[in-house]
Amino acid sequence: MSLIWRPLTMEDMPRLAETFAAAERVEPIGEHYNAEDLAEEIGSPNVDLPTATTSAWDGDKLAAYGLLRRRDAANPAHMVRVETLVHPEYRDDAIAAQLIDWFEKTGKEVHAKSFPDAPLELHAAATTKQRWLSDVLVDAGYEHARWFVDMRADLAAIPPAEPLPEEFPLVAYEEKYEEFTLRSRNETFADHWGSTAQSPEAWRHLVVGGKDFQPDLSFLLLSPARDRVIAMVLTAYFASDEAVTGVKELYASHVATDASLRGRGIAGALLGHTLVQAKAKGFQRASLNVDQDNSHRALGVYERVGFSEHQRWAGYVKPVPT
Ligand SMILES: CC(C)(COP(=O)(O)OP(=O)(O)OC[C@H]1O[C@@H](n2cnc3c(N)ncnc32)[C@H](O)[C@@H]1OP(=O)(O)O)[C@@H](O)C(=O)NCCC(=O)NCCS
Repeated sequence: MSLIWRPLTMEDMPRLAETFAAAERVEPIGEHYNAEDLAEEIGSPNVDLPTATTSAWDGDKLAAYGLLRRRDAANPAHMVRVETLVHPEYRDDAIAAQLIDWFEKTGKEVHAKSFPDAPLELHAAATTKQRWLSDVLVDAGYEHARWFVDMRADLAAIPPAEPLPEEFPLVAYEEKYEEFTLRSRNETFADHWGSTAQSPEAWRHLVVGGKDFQPDLSFLLLSPARDRVIAMVLTAYFASDEAVTGVKELYASHVATDASLRGRGIAGALLGHTLVQAKAKGFQRASLNVDQDNSHRALGVYERVGFSEHQRWAGYVKPVPT
């Protein structure tokens, strides 16, 4: 079968959403994107559509896509993210080989334009249900590096929230806190596996300026002088998910406490507060994703407030000589 390969354009998003839906029917992993969701994800400042995306077409059917997301920092390696999906009807060795070659060749080009002096690593992920993709990555030399756990909490069954410390003012997120919040995120996630400092542009695009961000259900604890964020829970709501599942779910994208204040129950209390508020606003479920081996044992914090494992993702890494 001969497929036409070319970079993605924003006009392709409805076709890409159809390919995600076709994959979801075969391997349900809860990724219910509509075209608007994909336009936001892919239209990020860290993805250059003409040079860092590819797609394979069978007529007007999108058989596969690949994308490389450059990072805002290299510390020390530049961990370029590989994102890909092959339509279930087109999964064969030829399409896999084409994509694997493209990741490596284009990864080097993306890297040369951003952090030429740093080592290059390609980072990919697949859930345990995505057997075909996992096999393709492992056969191509990607090594399993980490487990990431998707957790869910049924808001009808959460334990009572622990009290919040009184010395730190609690506020719902507002735009005026944007700079403080990013600073806190970059400090608290500095040693988080696979994370790098984020630029204000990427942060705004994908997190606090994103269409699904929920400022009213995102909470900050401020320093007594109100000049720093000392803890945060940031959340999003994906309407496209609810349209398919019928469940109103709040996703906690960021949970963090300043390093000097950890181990005092702050993250647990702030997340517990967020869940109570979400339930009061009609949410039925909360979700988040956590690195199983998080060095701060975040998974235990989440279990205590009512989350349990739903599914897991394998994180794969391939160092690429440049
Ligand atoms: C993960 C993180 C958010 C936890 O924040 P935290 O405020 O320290 O969390 P908590 O204090 O609620 O819980 C941490 C520990 O303190 C313990 N603790 C809870 N309440 C306590 C209290 N009142 N007194 C003493 N210890 C307490 C908890 O039992 C937990 O211990 P455990 O790990 O042995 O189970 C924080 O370490 C962090 O910001 N890490 C970097 C960013 C990150 O990894 N975020 C998670 C990404 S998924």
